[in-house]
Amino acid sequence: MPTSKTPRIAIAIMAAGKGTRLQSKYPKVLHEVGGKPLLAHVVAVATSIVAAKDVYAIVGHEAELVRKAVEHTGINFVLQAEQRGTGHALMVARDALAPYDQVLVLSGDAPLITAETIRRLSDFHSDKKAAMTLLSAELSHPTGYGRIVRKSPKSDEVRAIVEEKAANPTQKEIGEINSGFYAFAVKALYARIGELKTDNTHREYYLTDMASVFTKAKSKVIALKTGNAAEILGSNTRAEMMEIDALVRMAKCRQIMAAGASIFFPQTCVIDADVEVGTDTIIEPFVQLLGKTRVGNDCRIRSYSVIHNSEVGDGVTVRPGSILDDARIGSNAVIGPYSHLRPGSEIGEGAHVGNFVETKNVKVGRGSKANHLTYLGDAQIGAGVNVGAGTITCNYDGVHKHKTEIGDNVFVGSDSTLVAPVKIGKGAYIGAASCITDDVPGDALAIGRARQTTKEGWARTKREAMAATKK
Ligand code: UD1
Ligand code: CA
Repeated sequence: MPTSKTPRIAIAIMAAGKGTRLQSKYPKVLHEVGGKPLLAHVVAVATSIVAAKDVYAIVGHEAELVRKAVEHTGINFVLQAEQRGTGHALMVARDALAPYDQVLVLSGDAPLITAETIRRLSDFHSDKKAAMTLLSAELSHPTGYGRIVRKSPKSDEVRAIVEEKAANPTQKEIGEINSGFYAFAVKALYARIGELKTDNTHREYYLTDMASVFTKAKSKVIALKTGNAAEILGSNTRAEMMEIDALVRMAKCRQIMAAGASIFFPQTCVIDADVEVGTDTIIEPFVQLLGKTRVGNDCRIRSYSVIHNSEVGDGVTVRPGSILDDARIGSNAVIGPYSHLRPGSEIGEGAHVGNFVETKNVKVGRGSKANHLTYLGDAQIGAGVNVGAGTITCNYDGVHKHKTEIGDNVFVGSDSTLVAPVKIGKGAYIGAASCITDDVPGDALAIGRARQTTKEGWARTKREAMAATKK
């Protein structure tokens, strides 16, 4: 039950910076780790702590792009048109944050932070009645981070945060760093934020300087040290970002394995955050499972397959080198090797789609087979159909796409071209190498090819004639 004592809490996510160190035309917070933009990870943590309406992303560089990437979450945006530092980011958010008691400040480029740690930071801040509480961590390589100068080694209280560029040699020895996550008492913050100065190498307003501003004013600044230093990592360079990506991916693999699937050489697999995998499924090395892919139980996904936004039923085998994009695979189907299932491919239970077969916008019925060198596009294929090697649905006349319909138990001989729109009735046979341009009734045999002519002895005569000219 909220009482009058429950603090009204907002979360501000600093996401306006350019990310100069990435050498990119895209804003830093839209670079991806674990298959999602950095900012999307941070927004997910924020909205698990407070309601989306209490989350404010401070955007500036490429603000519209950044907004588009996360606006579906329902959070708010504050525009920091000019990026004059992390302190300035909070200055522009003053009106938005004024109605709250406490603001938790997160960094849009540090996606590993957990909700649990942020809640602890918030509670610690409330319990100690501090003006500013920062999350710190002990790093063996603290270079680049702001260092925490405590009032005394045992004290919770902080005197100042010294940025790398301003630190003297003794301060550079300090292993306790500023993580860039803070809790502030909103009233205290905005009473004193005007005292920030830009007398530093970047000529920016540093939010970190609020520590010394408050210390001078005799307001309480404290630090909470996290035991899990990995969760505060920021991505200032591409190399740092890829280290974070590896951590996110490995955590995802561990989660999938804990839920009962095996992943061989997980460090070679790329599995996005929202992917689900059932029990007793085996994922071989160098597999990518991307987007909203769901793989059922008892499947085997063999090496070098890339599966994006697809649903794979139970007991499915995906043989090596297959590409699935927006496809649905029924239980016990066998796909590959080297199949390319493009959007709208629905493969029925127990069906086989094999070597060098491309499908698009097609329904393949239960138990049907298309095992070799085939293109099936814009087609409806019944159950128990055999599609011979080299079959092509000619679905495109240069302007429009047309449909091919194949009834149950049809046998399509090898190397047939089915010129759509065309229907082949149940149980019909198509002779090999046919070009089918007219509908075929059920149970009929259709042959559409030139008749074979055989000229007895022709080759021998030809050989002899050629040999005679050589002499
Ligand atoms: C900051 C801290 C540093 C800390 C480190 C932890 C400052 C001055 N320093 O440094 O003490 O150790 O984080 O990772 O705060 N941003 C804006 N508007 C701006 C500038 C930045 O929204 O005007 C955003 C950036 O997009 C980024 C975040 O603030 O998401 C942090 O900025 P960044 O430049 O990465 O700060 P650091 O140099 O990492
Ligand atoms: Ca940073």
